[in-house]
Amino acid sequence: CREGSMEVLLESGGERVALVRINRPEARNALNSAVREQLARIFVELAGNDEIRCVVVTGTEKVFAAGADIKAMADAQPVDMMLRAGERNWAPIKDFPKPLIAAVNGFALGGGCELAMHADMIIAGASAKFAQPEIKVGIIPGAGGTQRLLRAVGKFKAMKILLTGEMVSAQEAEAMGLVTEVVPDGEVLDRALALARSIALLPPLAARKIKELVLQGGDLPLEAALVMERHAFHLMFATADQKEGMQAFIDKRSPNFKGL
Ligand code: HXC
Repeated sequence: CREGSMEVLLESGGERVALVRINRPEARNALNSAVREQLARIFVELAGNDEIRCVVVTGTEKVFAAGADIKAMADAQPVDMMLRAGERNWAPIKDFPKPLIAAVNGFALGGGCELAMHADMIIAGASAKFAQPEIKVGIIPGAGGTQRLLRAVGKFKAMKILLTGEMVSAQEAEAMGLVTEVVPDGEVLDRALALARSIALLPPLAARKIKELVLQGGDLPLEAALVMERHAFHLMFATADQKEGMQAFIDKRSPNFKGL
């Protein structure tokens, strides 16, 4: 628990893995400013913590997160929203340099779906539901939903989700590429943590570069992205973990990656 607040919990997810848990079930984990500020602080801290190599973000049993807090926005004017500068609290999650896995049980709606889409992989329970229902309350997604959804699932699925606000099942989400894996509801967190722990055994500098290239490269012209990849590929040969990984292969032993 962080600084006296219990809405976002930071727990161990096993060796070198952190678990971030949104815990405001009475409001369906709605992302009010307190929750978002706590999330931002936690992600800043985890980015700088060399002990942590991979992070899982999750909600509670029935809800991942039901989106931005509608009650806190209902009477807002544009200037109020500008002054709230919500993007400041999304930035540490958007720019989080380590692999981030969302473990989604139940509803991931609006800002909750957008939070899941900030992750690098999404593990969903069989009864999870995804939606961008903003249009039903007279707004549009405000944390990257139109853009990340478009890039994840393509124009024609994204348009349906954004224009109707209707929920998409975990199975449909998996079929359209919004979800990495669907597992039984009771196994979501275990699966996400197991995946995180397996990634945490791998060289973190390589993981960081892969994440950066996938996220940044996807929006560049192919040739520019390929040059960026080549430079990063060459840079890996400056790491101790490259020497260790290849020597361990030759020696027929397990590697011990130090993150150097
Ligand atoms: C504020 C919320 C909330 C939300 C639920 N609650 N979602 N409060 N903001 N987003 C509150 C309810 O008002 C209610 O409070 C309590 O949580 C329980 O909700 P119920 O609806 O009674 O629960 P249930 O029947 O289980 O339905 C769950 C639900 C539904 C399917 C998640 O609550 C729902 O559809 N929520 C709204 C989803 C939504 O429209 N999200 C998009 C928000 S806009 P009381 O006081 O009555 O107990 C958005 C913009 C993003 O996200 C912009 C960038 C961040």
